[in-house]
Amino acid sequence: MASHDRVAIVTGAGSGIGKASALALLKAGWHVAFAGRRADALEKAIAGSGADRSRALTVATDVGKPDQVKNLFAKTMEKFGRLDLLFNNAGMGTPGTINLEDLTVEQWQAVVAVNLTGPFLCTQEAFRIMKAQTPRGGRIINNGSISAHAPRPNSSPYTATKHAITGLTRASMLDGRKYDIAVGQIDIGNAATEMTERMVNGVAQADGSVKVEPRMDVQHVADAIVHMANLPLESNVLFMTIKATKMPFEGRG
Ligand SMILES: NC(=O)c1ccc[n+]([C@@H]2O[C@H](COP(=O)([O-])OP(=O)(O)OC[C@H]3O[C@@H](n4cnc5c(N)ncnc54)[C@H](OP(=O)(O)O)[C@@H]3O)[C@@H](O)[C@H]2O)c1
Repeated sequence: MASHDRVAIVTGAGSGIGKASALALLKAGWHVAFAGRRADALEKAIAGSGADRSRALTVATDVGKPDQVKNLFAKTMEKFGRLDLLFNNAGMGTPGTINLEDLTVEQWQAVVAVNLTGPFLCTQEAFRIMKAQTPRGGRIINNGSISAHAPRPNSSPYTATKHAITGLTRASMLDGRKYDIAVGQIDIGNAATEMTERMVNGVAQADGSVKVEPRMDVQHVADAIVHMANLPLESNVLFMTIKATKMPFEGRG
């Protein structure tokens, strides 16, 4: 255990994986800043959980906006005084029904802003704090995806940004070493959240068919995040893949 109170920022904490992970960290004794665009969703996430509100903070944040990201880290420092973990979780895709050639540049840019620019801006802020604090260092976990390895049909913005996150993880892990900052990535497949609701009715497969895919309880992801977060800084899960066991991925289906 650390000798100080441990502090985390979780982006996209108002729903799904972010919410489950932020609540699991609270339960494990962390102080947690919940970030996301919808302030009401952040408040509701905490209110419905029975968690200790005094160790939680909510900051309405669009991670694609540099000023709002600065405000998130400033508010967290103001309330908790340090930062031990950043979970870069916020993310989105485009509708899987739109062909690559029909996507607008605005749709492309919206996904890049949330899935790639956001994690970069948050990583910069985390580096600035973590390298200067005492005790020094901290951990960053990036939320990649199975799509950081293999695409789904009509997913070019999502797949491209999730592949790019792997590059950000590797580059920031390398650059973080000198400051005792550990960076890792979790690649998730089919956790039961709003984002994967469509799997229940069937999703387009690489061979053109549409199939129902199995999903897993999001709590398994939250438990994995707590495991990664609780490691001492001398150890790091660089990449973890956690997926619904029988979803199509290995081999060719
Ligand atoms: N579920 C899966 O099986 C799965 C698999 C692979 C990867 N992932 C990744 O896991 C992450 C979370 O997904 P999820 O399944 O939990 O879906 P989700 O419930 O839709 O969560 C996405 C979260 O991101 C937040 N968000 C979106 N745009 C944002 C922005 N500009 N600034 C700040 N927050 C923003 C949303 O809140 P607001 O709308 O309030 O901002 C929402 O809380 C994503 O990065 C996703 O790619 C999920």
